Amino acid sequence: MNNEKQLIMALIVLIAMLAVLLGASGRFENTRPEQTSEEESALVDEDLIVVGFSQLGSESVWRTTHTQSIQDALSKENGFFLQYSNARQKQENQIKAIRGFISQRVDYIVFSPLMEDGWETVLTEAKEAGIPVILVDRKVSGSSDLYTTFIGSDMEEEGRKAGEWLASYQKQIGHANDPINIVVLTGTFGSSSQIGRSRGFEQVAAEHPNWHILARESGDFTVIKGKEAMAKLLRMYDDIDVVVSQNDEMTFGAMEAIAEAGYTTGIYGDMKLISFDGVKDALGLVDFGKINCDVECNPLQGELLAEVIHKLEAGEQVEKEYFVDELVFTRDNVREYLGDRVY
Ligand code: AHR
Repeated sequence: MNNEKQLIMALIVLIAMLAVLLGASGRFENTRPEQTSEEESALVDEDLIVVGFSQLGSESVWRTTHTQSIQDALSKENGFFLQYSNARQKQENQIKAIRGFISQRVDYIVFSPLMEDGWETVLTEAKEAGIPVILVDRKVSGSSDLYTTFIGSDMEEEGRKAGEWLASYQKQIGHANDPINIVVLTGTFGSSSQIGRSRGFEQVAAEHPNWHILARESGDFTVIKGKEAMAKLLRMYDDIDVVVSQNDEMTFGAMEAIAEAGYTTGIYGDMKLISFDGVKDALGLVDFGKINCDVECNPLQGELLAEVIHKLEAGEQVEKEYFVDELVFTRDNVREYLGDRVY
C-alpha cells in the first residue's frame, strides 16, 4: 500500500469511529445544528438531567439572585445540564423559549411566568410532549394539570404580613383607630406576585375601616418606574401616611421621589414605608429606620428545585406546591440577619 492509500484508509476508519460515537450520543441527536462546547459535553454524558429554564427577566436584585440560585443548584456537578433563557420581561419571549425546549426534548421545563394568564396553549404543548413543567417564583392561572409542581413564595401571605405589621404598629403607637391614607406601588400588573400581595394586603385593610387606600399605581418592579409612579402619586395627594411598595427596587425609586418632593420616610418620617423582598440594601435602610418594615420574598429556590427534580427522577411523588421560608424585617430584628445577607 502506498502512502496515498494508507491516508485514505485512515480517514475512512476515523469517519466510521465518529459516526459510531455520534450515533450513540443520545438526547441531543439532530436537535441542534450548532452546539457550544458545553452542549457538546452533554452529548457525551447521558446521565445529565437536561433542564430548560426560562427566566422572565432581570429587573431586580431579587431576580438576578433567583437566577443565580437556580444556575448554581442545577450545575453539572449536581447532575444537570441547564439551558438558560432570559425573556427580558416579554411573555412572547418566554413562550418562544418554552417551545424551543419542547422541540429539543429537554427532560424538564422550569419557568418563572411573567404574568398569570396566557400559558394554556404552550403548557398543553409541553404536556402533550410528555415534558414535566415546574413553576418557580410565580404562578399561572387556569388548570393545575398543566404543571407538575410549584416552588416559590406564598405571595398572598406576604401581602397579609404587610397588613398585619401595619395594624400592630398603629396599635403599638396608640393610633389603631386613626384614619390613615395609604398608597400602593404595585409590581408588574397581572403577575402573581402583584395579584397575591395586593389581595393579601387588602384582606387586612378590609378589617380596618379607618384605612383608606387612596390609589394603586404600577411601578413594574423597577427603580425607574417606581420613582415615576411615586412622583405621580405625590402630585395627586398631599396627605399620604403610608406607602406600600411591592418590591425593594420600587421602594428605592419611591424614596428618591419622596425626598425630591421634600418629604421623609420611616420611623421618624412623614410617611411609613413598607417594602417587599428584603435585599441587603433595603435591610440597611430598615436598620437606618428609613423603611419601617420589609416583608421577605426568598429568591434562594435553586436547592429545593434540584431536590424536587431528583425526586421526580427517582419516580417519587412530589407535592403540588412548595413554599420557601420567609421572615418580616423591622428595626427590632434586622441586625440579626443583615450581616449574613449576600444579595
Ligand atoms: O416575583 C417576585 C418579585 O419579582 C420580587 O418581589 C421582585 O423583586 C421581582 O422582580
